[in-house]
Amino acid sequence: MTCKLTWLSHGTWLIESGKLKIMLDPFLTDNPTATAKSSDFDDVNHILVSHGHGDHVGDLVDVAQRSGAMVVASFELVNWLGGQGIENASPMNIGGQIEISVGEDDVATVKMVPAIHSSGLPDGSYGGPASGFVIGIGGRRIYFACDTAYYSDMDFYAGGVDAAVLPIGDCFTMGIDDSIAAVKRIGPKCVLPAHYNTWPPIAQDADAWSERVKAETDAEPVVPQIGQAFEI
Ligand code: NI
Ligand code: MN
Repeated sequence: MTCKLTWLSHGTWLIESGKLKIMLDPFLTDNPTATAKSSDFDDVNHILVSHGHGDHVGDLVDVAQRSGAMVVASFELVNWLGGQGIENASPMNIGGQIEISVGEDDVATVKMVPAIHSSGLPDGSYGGPASGFVIGIGGRRIYFACDTAYYSDMDFYAGGVDAAVLPIGDCFTMGIDDSIAAVKRIGPKCVLPAHYNTWPPIAQDADAWSERVKAETDAEPVVPQIGQAFEI
């Protein structure tokens, strides 16, 4: 089995393997670069949420309501979701790992890993810690750093993953220079950029990033177009 990743722009991803159809950080409606709509995702069965910022939870309640998907997020974010009428949720916290599944055959592991970032919700509520995820799915291990600065424990959590998805936008997360340091530390087989070009403050040249990954690391850079799927 393999795993299919689709970049829906910014920090929003679709992760599919077998019957598992997982959405990460649904943000489409107010996202100037998104080409998909939240109504396109009635059939997701899990939603992972890294933190409470609007550009990660913008369409969370809508997609959760439409799909009935189980939301995996921090304890505090899950409590907040309960107040929005979303009860199908699995709370966790940094360093913990859970299994998610559809039936008996399609099982994935989800580990919530540290992110150096903040996590206030759009209404001012406390969103708990900001996080990334290491997902074991379809025989692959994938690191979604989500919104974070570079930190030197990344290899403890994500060393040698099949794919690492790293922010490169700078300003609110690590930028290109620090993402290269992260790739060197993690040693992923391939690396994909995220959280860039959505707005002017996070404008980046992904092709220049890709050339630097090739020149300075052992990882294969993959720069998906918005909406494009990539098989790992
Ligand atoms: Ni953020
Ligand atoms: Mn963000």
